[in-house]
Amino acid sequence: MKISVIGCGYLGAVHAASLASVGHDVVGVDIDAAKVEALSNGRSPIYEPELPELLRAGIESGRLRFSTDMSDVRGATVHFIAVGTPQRLGSSSADLTYVDQAFADLLPHLVDGDVVVGKSTVPVGTAQRHAGSVEARGARLAWNPEFLREGFAVKDTIEPDRLVYGVADGDTYSVEQLNEVYATAIASGSPVIVSDFATAELVKVAANAFLATKISFINAMAEIAEVTGADVTKLADAIGHDKRIGRKFLNAGVGFGGGCLPKDIRAFTARAEELGRGESVAFLKEVDAINLRRRERVVELVTEELGGSVFQKKVAVLGLAFKPDSDDVRDSPALDVAVRLNGLGAKVVATDPEAMPNSRRLHPQLVYGTTEEALADADAVVVVTEWPEYKELNPAKVHRMVRTPIVVDARNCLDADVWAESGWEYAGLGRQVRNGRVTT
Ligand code: UGA
Repeated sequence: MKISVIGCGYLGAVHAASLASVGHDVVGVDIDAAKVEALSNGRSPIYEPELPELLRAGIESGRLRFSTDMSDVRGATVHFIAVGTPQRLGSSSADLTYVDQAFADLLPHLVDGDVVVGKSTVPVGTAQRHAGSVEARGARLAWNPEFLREGFAVKDTIEPDRLVYGVADGDTYSVEQLNEVYATAIASGSPVIVSDFATAELVKVAANAFLATKISFINAMAEIAEVTGADVTKLADAIGHDKRIGRKFLNAGVGFGGGCLPKDIRAFTARAEELGRGESVAFLKEVDAINLRRRERVVELVTEELGGSVFQKKVAVLGLAFKPDSDDVRDSPALDVAVRLNGLGAKVVATDPEAMPNSRRLHPQLVYGTTEEALADADAVVVVTEWPEYKELNPAKVHRMVRTPIVVDARNCLDADVWAESGWEYAGLGRQVRNGRVTT
């Protein structure tokens, strides 16, 4: 099929490259000339495993190209809108400027029989608002939310857990077109759910709201564990064995961040309030509050471990990305912790395998370095993103590099006993401090 993808960010670039990899002819359009140039040369503007290989293969095959010119969508019959919907400045609601602009720019190029497919995460009611102008061009509108996780974006796009198509009443044509777009995924077993627009839009925010709630639930248990002497990681293992609950997304720690969960729960709350149903999702404000409290708790723990003040103490901050396998620092708890400690006068040296350039752009005041530079003579070490290289650190070796063997494991990703046995004072979130043997 001939397909266009409007917006080539985290979502669109992966979507375009993945569709080309399953045999479609794809053009990706973005207003950012630098991004289009990088993509056209097979370079990924974001860190995402498997994406560079997919981009290069697509470009070499001639089935994938990128452009800044919207008229290049002509010839495509299915047009995906994959632009961002960030949090509006000074408000909880979603900023729909890019979505609205994408529709406005695309409309003049639509011809009879085209299908426009929204993929962006939008407040419920957005599809309905745009349906009329698309139909006026003889085209159809569908809403097909995406559920990809950063770090697994290619896999999640090629083999999605499910496909959701929100279509207008009786629009079987769009369903057929989407079934053809996703023929490979459907053949390998991805279930398809066809619904109206509102359900499709809500599925996306409901899924993210549920995931955020699950994380904040376990983090709330961590708060209780901290005052009772319980261990939240064992609690999570135990309740996770119940298949109805499941162990996934029950990792207590510094909490969730990124370009999706935080802004999506806020936008959902704002939209529900607009609809006069604010009370239905009022709990999401608590989910947000619990999540943000965890960042404070990490700073508090470091402060306690350092005897009441971080001032002039060297703190190695391991991790800046909002999660491993990503260079994304949007609303990153890790970067936030680094900035807060720095603001309290700690001599922070922050490091990350991939996210240092993005962090530096946002926070040039922080000192960045290699893992070795961060650890050298540190008074405390904080692990805030669970990259494999931090989980695999050898505690005995690191012990020889630091000034004081204090580690705050803000992701509960280290083996507390092994670190304590190597002479470290180990502090996790929602678990007791383990004291290592006294060393000189
Ligand atoms: C999330 C959803 O998982 C995707 O399904 C969705 O498509 C995407 O948002 C989106 O809306 O585009 P993503 O933001 O890539 O994906 O990251 P997640 O893997 O969901 O992690 C989110 C945050 O939760 C990270 O900061 C992670 O460290 C944190 N987390 C996750 C925890 O603190 N504990 C856990 O147990 C799991």
